[in-house]
Amino acid sequence: MQVAIIGVGYVGLVSGACFADLGHTVRCVDRDEGRIASLRAGRMPIYEPHLDTLVARNVAAGRLGFGTDIAEAVRDAEVIFIAVGTPARRGDGHADLAHVYACAREIAGALQGYAVVVTKSTVPVGTGDRVEHILQTLRPQASFAVVSNPEFLREGAAIADFKAPDRIVIGTDDERARAVMRNLYRPLEAGTRILFTGRRSAELVKYAANAFLALKIGFINEMADLCEQADASIHDVAHGIGLDRRIGARFLQAGPGFGGSCFPKDIQALIKSAQDLGAPTRIVETVAAANEQRKRRMARRLIQACGGSVRGLTIGVLGLTFKPNTDDMRESPALTILTALLDEGADVRAYDPEGMEQARALMPEITCVPDPYAVAEGADALALITEWDAFRALDLPRLRRRMAGDVLVDYRNLIAPEAAAEAGFHHIGVGCRATPPAPRARLARARSARRGARIGTPLAASPA
Ligand code: NAI
Repeated sequence: MQVAIIGVGYVGLVSGACFADLGHTVRCVDRDEGRIASLRAGRMPIYEPHLDTLVARNVAAGRLGFGTDIAEAVRDAEVIFIAVGTPARRGDGHADLAHVYACAREIAGALQGYAVVVTKSTVPVGTGDRVEHILQTLRPQASFAVVSNPEFLREGAAIADFKAPDRIVIGTDDERARAVMRNLYRPLEAGTRILFTGRRSAELVKYAANAFLALKIGFINEMADLCEQADASIHDVAHGIGLDRRIGARFLQAGPGFGGSCFPKDIQALIKSAQDLGAPTRIVETVAAANEQRKRRMARRLIQACGGSVRGLTIGVLGLTFKPNTDDMRESPALTILTALLDEGADVRAYDPEGMEQARALMPEITCVPDPYAVAEGADALALITEWDAFRALDLPRLRRRMAGDVLVDYRNLIAPEAAAEAGFHHIGVGCRATPPAPRARLARARSARRGARIGTPLAASPA
């Protein structure tokens, strides 16, 4: 089949490459000329494991091409995907649909013959109606259907998720469009449940799924706080509840709060839509507020471990992206934590396997170094913020020897506390007991706290 994909970001590029790999002929278009030039030169504009090989293979086979001309891509396509960004609208948190509607207008101008226009972008319930209205108004004679086909792939595992999803949701009441979409996804049919729904339901499935996953994370984080106060272990509690099949073990890892390009903005958009429709989602509102507070409290956890002030201290940071195996920094907890540390007068030195370029653009004040051991050099404290596999097997004694202090705040519970203690770290995880600081380090911290109190702003104690 001939497929056009508008928007060559994480979703559009992965979808385009995967559809091509399934045998379709795919034209990916983006208004960002630099992005297209880079792809044409064989350079990936984003980091996603194995994406470069997949793209190269399908370009070489003549099934995948890139361009900037939407009309040209749309003209011959049987299926046209809109996969552009839907960020939070500045000021009110609603999803900003300007890019989606701009695509709809461009598509309207180029439609020839019957085509299925599919919103793959995450959009609020009712957006498909509006896209349909735009197309109908601009091209009353055109023959088309508007379908919702939300995407559930996870960055870092996007290709596997696209090719073997838990389900494919297709929202349309149009029989012809249903047949076209079934044909498109036929190569995946054997191993995947294809769920046909109404268009509005499909739009809501995506938001409801993200809100539910966020809720699980928010819940386990709250339990982690409780464990810390109750001298219990979040590992045991999460394991104990996760074995219940009604709950399930996934998304029960306590941490610094969720971030990323989807959860925070999708939850806000759901909250706004629900309020507009007169059916406010109180639970989701609470999850969103608790998560924002948590990210802010996480910086304080480190500051307190450093004796109440980080002014003039060097804080080494391991991991910047919102999760491993991506270069995506959007809404990463590292942004909130590092901004607070910088505001409190710390020097921040950081390493991330893929995210340093994006991080530097967002926080020019941080110093990026080439490896974890350079992060530790002379650092008063370390903060492990993203659970990259590469950090699992760090040589802890080597890290510790390079440091001036002994604090290791492990926001992902990646390092075994016993191993950290053995290497001489004062290890502070999430939802579990901290290992005690070495007596010498305790003294140094008290001195640093006194210094901080003299030259810096004293910090109120908070139960971080
Ligand atoms: P992105 O920001 O990585 O890419 C969007 C692309 O669209 C950019 O390259 C931009 O230049 C292009 N674009 C914007 N307006 C355009 C226009 N009028 N014409 C042509 N190109 C245009 O976005 P990402 O992360 O791929 O997300 C796309 C959509 O998919 C969003 O609605 C997002 O919520 C949703 N989604 C994202 C997932 C993710 O893991 N990133 C997962 C599932 C859904």
